[in-house]
Amino acid sequence: MTLPDGPSTPPAVQMMQTIVRPLETLETNFQRYGDLYTARITGFGPVEVLSSPDGIEALMTAPTHLFDSGRGNWILTPFVGETSLILLDGKAHQRQRKLLMPPFHGDRLRAYGQDICQITQQVIDRWQPGQTFSAREVTQAISLQVIMRTVFGVDEGEQAERLHHHLNLLLKLFDQPLNSSFVFIRALQKDWGALSPWGNFVRQRSQIDEILYAQIRERRDHPERRGDDILSLMLAARDEAGEPMTDQELRDEMMTLLFAGHETTATALAWALYWLHWLPEVGAKVLQELAELGPNPDPVAISRLPYLNAVCQETLRIYPVGLFAFSRILNQSWSLMDYTFEPGTTIAVCIYLLHHRPDLYPNPKQFRPERFLERQFSPYEYFPFGGGNRRCIGAAFALFEMKLVLATILSRWQLQLCSKQPIKPVRRGVTMAPARGVPMQVVNQRAPISSEGKAEDRAMVMDGR
Ligand code: HEM
Repeated sequence: MTLPDGPSTPPAVQMMQTIVRPLETLETNFQRYGDLYTARITGFGPVEVLSSPDGIEALMTAPTHLFDSGRGNWILTPFVGETSLILLDGKAHQRQRKLLMPPFHGDRLRAYGQDICQITQQVIDRWQPGQTFSAREVTQAISLQVIMRTVFGVDEGEQAERLHHHLNLLLKLFDQPLNSSFVFIRALQKDWGALSPWGNFVRQRSQIDEILYAQIRERRDHPERRGDDILSLMLAARDEAGEPMTDQELRDEMMTLLFAGHETTATALAWALYWLHWLPEVGAKVLQELAELGPNPDPVAISRLPYLNAVCQETLRIYPVGLFAFSRILNQSWSLMDYTFEPGTTIAVCIYLLHHRPDLYPNPKQFRPERFLERQFSPYEYFPFGGGNRRCIGAAFALFEMKLVLATILSRWQLQLCSKQPIKPVRRGVTMAPARGVPMQVVNQRAPISSEGKAEDRAMVMDGR
């Protein structure tokens, strides 16, 4: 079988380049080899990197039994556990997905609106003019509380605080790109004591597990404490044979939602805050739009604002949180773009390269929300949440949360970036996050909006670089 061309550097070198300089490596390969090329990375075998809309459409609309994805995500096993939705395939995946989807859509989703605004308000209430903070830390605190409330139905109390604490310690391990290497290199997954990266990771994880299993036990023992949160829904669910989910399944799905649901949204929000203040004219336009809604706007009305929506979309275009969608591994031979691939071939859609195609996004390195108002992109041209049968189940939830958090912060405080230097993305585990977490400073409180919605005054106070 002839594979598409690709770099001939040794797999270990390609792996290090992918970990340490991912964007440059992708761009160089794209320029040299184009829409479909073969990368070779230690531990993964050949990977077909795909970034053309036509190729992505062919892949996403092919019958789902042709591909597996779950088994390609083995790298996430230490975080989410073997029975996580992310690691399942076939019928088991379909069943679990059906169970987890409803809380993230429709009326259920809208019901979280007030909670999201309230949680954001609580976090930013403590700010004082002159205070500096890391945008990434603030957005993480917010998105963690949001997901805790939606998954567990609680975000307060001793258990919630302990969970918050240990998750933060665990996530801190990914702050540096090199620390993240243990995610990719199995040989580094050795417990050399609490100070070694892996040793520290397993200790934090076992603390988190203890809390999750305690939550599960408590809800099993006290059905009256169940609400309409996701854990309660999972506890009530039965499979075709009438069996409930096991404790391990429940733990793995909670861990999946905690990880998938708050790391990603926190990073996207930190980028959005960066762009809104790096380009003051963008921030001013968002404020103008918000002002037109008048005081105390309804969360659903905020979520429908076209420019704010375009800002969120452009944020996820320019630096997608995940550079790649999940890999698709062929179960049968399959032809794509003049090649016939054999069973076992791994195809990885590169979201970053797709989003940086100049034929779709002229001047792709420029942050310009207007491009989303000027034209409609197909689901194969714009792919921040992946697609097909693995499309992110939290996509609508994440966008809703992003808009409400940004609207709440911007309406309340005037902020500025601490540095005039542009901020670049760096690897954070399997995601890409802003380097140094976007240091920012609180400038001043904004005047409450009048009932006429005084757009001019509010739009002018947006401070930039
Ligand atoms: C800005 C925020 C987010 C981004 C950029 C994002 C991105 C993604 C991407 C690219 C995928 C893989 C899709 C594919 O391969 O086709 C995915 C899957 C997934 N996401 Fe998200 N996500 C975000 C937020 C969330 C939230 C808030 C949740 C839940 C609370 C969530 C839960 C999941 C789950 C469970 C999957 C696996 C779906 C499956 O295997 O069937 N994500 N996400």
